[in-house]
Amino acid sequence: MTTIALQVNRRAVEVSAEPRTSLADFVRDKLDLTGTHRGCEHGVCGACTVLLDGVPARSCITYAAACEGADITTIEGLDEDEITTELRAAFTREHALQCGYCTPGMLVSARDLVLRLPDADERRIRVGLSGNLCRCTGYVGIVRAVQSVIEARRARDIAALADGGRTSLGPAGSGRAASGRSEPRPAQQALAPASESAEPGSIPDFIPATILDQRFTLPHPPAKVFAMFDDIGAIAACLPGVSLKSPPRPERVEGLIRVRLGPIAAAFEGAARVERDPATLSGRIVGIGTDQRSHSATQGEIRYRLLPLEGGTATAVELSIGYTLTGMLAQVGRPGLVRDLAKRLVAEFAANLDRHMSGAPSGAGAPAELSFWSIVSDVLRARLARLLGRRSEPE
Ligand code: FES
Ligand code: FES
Repeated sequence: MTTIALQVNRRAVEVSAEPRTSLADFVRDKLDLTGTHRGCEHGVCGACTVLLDGVPARSCITYAAACEGADITTIEGLDEDEITTELRAAFTREHALQCGYCTPGMLVSARDLVLRLPDADERRIRVGLSGNLCRCTGYVGIVRAVQSVIEARRARDIAALADGGRTSLGPAGSGRAASGRSEPRPAQQALAPASESAEPGSIPDFIPATILDQRFTLPHPPAKVFAMFDDIGAIAACLPGVSLKSPPRPERVEGLIRVRLGPIAAAFEGAARVERDPATLSGRIVGIGTDQRSHSATQGEIRYRLLPLEGGTATAVELSIGYTLTGMLAQVGRPGLVRDLAKRLVAEFAANLDRHMSGAPSGAGAPAELSFWSIVSDVLRARLARLLGRRSEPE
């Protein structure tokens, strides 16, 4: 076994694997990123295409160990990517997939074409995609979808990126493995400056893949609410599923978040740092956590701002919740459902805060485990009720 350290979907990963492990097996079996498909497993079909340092590469014939220090992006890492979002819509519109097995690799390669070729015609797209085979033979729809995205971007005056923004070689490996782990890795530092340059034990900054805005009000003055937000122990007690592992310090809070989603139980162990600005009654909590059992990892931040209401007797709390989730749990979340869940969780958090600030007896706080399943059932029940309500309304 050898330990391989690399960046996958903007997250630093350090995992042991056999030296012979392919990158495809590595992301699928070690990181549960199963959107990368294995087809021929000898570099012909393109189903396993990922981005390696920004360049499409066959992950079935690339050793994971050869990617030491590289920046890998799988189809899951392109969830929020602008071009991939446009391509997904075009694939749907043009019926560019049947069984969908080739689609993740096809999207990764098509994104590269859109990025590099501002005026590709049908022939050029066919040549560009010739390394990706569709066993359902849906090439007409695929080419039409890619062409429509290229044309739409050209109409919006979006310039192509010379060489697709490439900085180093791709398909044979990252080109950095030979340099050894102790030597500097300039390209990776450019991609993840905060995590690389951070002090040991400190919590790095990051760019969240998903941001949800929420707002609630509390019948307490802003100064009192701001003081409450400074009491990390009390705040943690109001957050469903959260517990602290040691006495909190502003620069480092260590804790555990227990989550259950149907049969999947995860315990994210991690740390966070807290920033506050009394002048603007605002602050930020940024944290990272991993769950060994489900191979899931998350980076998250909560930004808050307090605004006086009703002549300063009440407070509006504006929350911006940003997170990036990878691994098994990331694959069961759907954006609409996650937004509903966040709304429910924030409502629960607000109720707990209010109870705590009103001096409710201890023990009336948040449950020890965040059961997504019970919240999901509530959300689905509410959605169903809304739907039936709409149906039964008189015309
Ligand atoms: S599975 Fe990698 S090219 Fe076919
Ligand atoms: S849609 Fe089935 S393999 Fe391409």
